[in-house]
Amino acid sequence: MEIKVRQSPAWRATIKVPGDKSMSHRAAMLSALSDGPCLLRNYLAGEDCLGTLRVLGQLGVPIEDKGAGKWLVHGVSGKFRQPAADLDCGNSGTTMRLMSGLLSAQTFRSRLVGDPSLSKRPMRRIMEPLERMGAGLSTEGNDGRPPLVIQGNPKLHAIEYLLPVPSAQVKSAVLLAGLLAEGRTTVVQPVQTRDHTERMLAHFGVPVERDGDRISVRGGTLPRARNFDVPGDISSAAFWLVAAAAKPGCHLTIEGLGLNPTRTGVVKVLERMGAQIGLRDEISGPGEPSGTVEIRGGGLRGTTIEGAEIPNVIDEIPVLAVGAALARGTTLIKDAAELRVKESDRLAVVAHHLRAMGAEVDELPDGLVIHGGRPLHGACLESHGDHRIAMAFAIAGLFAEGETVITGTECVETSYPGFVDQLGELNHD
Ligand code: S3P
Repeated sequence: MEIKVRQSPAWRATIKVPGDKSMSHRAAMLSALSDGPCLLRNYLAGEDCLGTLRVLGQLGVPIEDKGAGKWLVHGVSGKFRQPAADLDCGNSGTTMRLMSGLLSAQTFRSRLVGDPSLSKRPMRRIMEPLERMGAGLSTEGNDGRPPLVIQGNPKLHAIEYLLPVPSAQVKSAVLLAGLLAEGRTTVVQPVQTRDHTERMLAHFGVPVERDGDRISVRGGTLPRARNFDVPGDISSAAFWLVAAAAKPGCHLTIEGLGLNPTRTGVVKVLERMGAQIGLRDEISGPGEPSGTVEIRGGGLRGTTIEGAEIPNVIDEIPVLAVGAALARGTTLIKDAAELRVKESDRLAVVAHHLRAMGAEVDELPDGLVIHGGRPLHGACLESHGDHRIAMAFAIAGLFAEGETVITGTECVETSYPGFVDQLGELNHD
């Protein structure tokens, strides 16, 4: 499939975006571990999160599609059934890594496979701590790449683990295994990463101790059945936020958005770049905050994105890089080598595609230097099977002279079903 884009008018609209991907995965997994029926509302109907439901179904968790984004997951109190076939995680690193934590504590062996993009992504980062807890993990691909085979051990033991990479997926895999292990499992995160697992465990009645950079759970307390409303995904909203911020005259309101502070870095970066943004928390407190974001477009200026801010904007960097190309001045993105092992090598692909559109970009081992302000022109660009690349460059096309064509855009379905229709509606309102 292809997406074709031309320059757009200034939008004045109020929109919503689909449910949060990270929260949808976790809500499904904690519901499955719980002791009864859990109704999940506004669950993301993207391929990644549907894949997690399919994998849980293969493990004997009864799941009912109630329509309109509602799913009823009947928890099995952590007792999964041996799957009859491979567990296909599709394009989803979150499914493979988080499920590994849960599968490590089972009585059986499972084999997790993925699509060509997931088959290139590193799994050692979860294998190492889960092996230390007593599970057996091996990969069939080169150098710790999937397929991933897990020999579960129902007698896992707790560990204390210092995260070597600032990854919420690794943290979550260890904490989920810790729920099913004997003793107190602690993860130490030198840099704050998204904390949905911690918040959602508390929502499902599991005590989580947080002491500075240390997060601990005690094995043996399983989640209690609870319902969960998934707010809109700020990583999906980021495409519209960047587009609106960069276009004078735009006035966009996005409602029902997740506003967890470990995810709102994109708003802070755009504010530094000169965007006018208003945030209204409508649901706050210890759960998942959500609310409305209102943005008015104007001229953007360059900024620096580095250090502890990187995990907070890790998924938004491709579209922020597009914003940087449209801004006056230079933007420096560094400490972001993790982008090389996402659904594609996002540093290389973003640099290549921005240059193909006429921007001036230097690629660093761990980042990008974008010399903004040069006019962009249309180009034919490959998604590399990476949903965020496809959508980020559809946004770039809204600012380019002539037509921009993105090819291989089926991948958009992994996180944002309805993206292309919404783009069409915004352009015609
Ligand atoms: C995710 C964490 C991030 C992010 C991914 C979803 C999660 O990955 O890139 O899209 O749901 O925990 P890492 O934590 O591995 O950086």
